[in-house]
Amino acid sequence: MQFTVTDAPTRERFEARDEAGVVAGLVTYQLTGNIIVYTHTEVDPAFEGRGVGSTLARAVMDDARARGRTVVPICPFLAEWLVKHPEYEGIVARSTRKVK
Ligand SMILES: CC(C)(COP(=O)(O)OP(=O)(O)OC[C@H]1O[C@@H](n2cnc3c(N)ncnc32)[C@H](O)[C@@H]1OP(=O)(O)O)[C@@H](O)C(=O)NCCC(=O)NCCS
Repeated sequence: MQFTVTDAPTRERFEARDEAGVVAGLVTYQLTGNIIVYTHTEVDPAFEGRGVGSTLARAVMDDARARGRTVVPICPFLAEWLVKHPEYEGIVARSTRKVK
């Protein structure tokens, strides 16, 4: 099945829809200037394990790169996905916060 990812700025999220237009998953964000913080990824349980999460991850990173944005990946799923996809390293800013 094909999933199409679109930005829904009024809801501050990217949505992945199936061919019938059903929302299968989403990535929420907060945008400040050209810094985009990806806060959470969620796939509808009915669609889990079918590549929706990966499709969303690639789409939101490609979108950020195309718009010249810097990505702050707070969402653990995206942070983990980025470890496996170092080709996006150049647009990612990671926290330097130290835990005592
Ligand atoms: C985590 C979640 C977004 C994955 O979506 P999905 O559509 O099932 O993922 P995909 O089928 O595209 O699989 C993507 C990859 O992520 C991996 N993965 C699955 N769940 C994961 C998790 N919780 N954390 C990190 N990686 C995960 C898969 O093993 C797969 O790896 P591979 O490409 O090396 O095989 C989805 O299971 C979900 O919404 N879970 C509940 C909410 C949640 O835990 N969100 C993440 C924290 S913000």
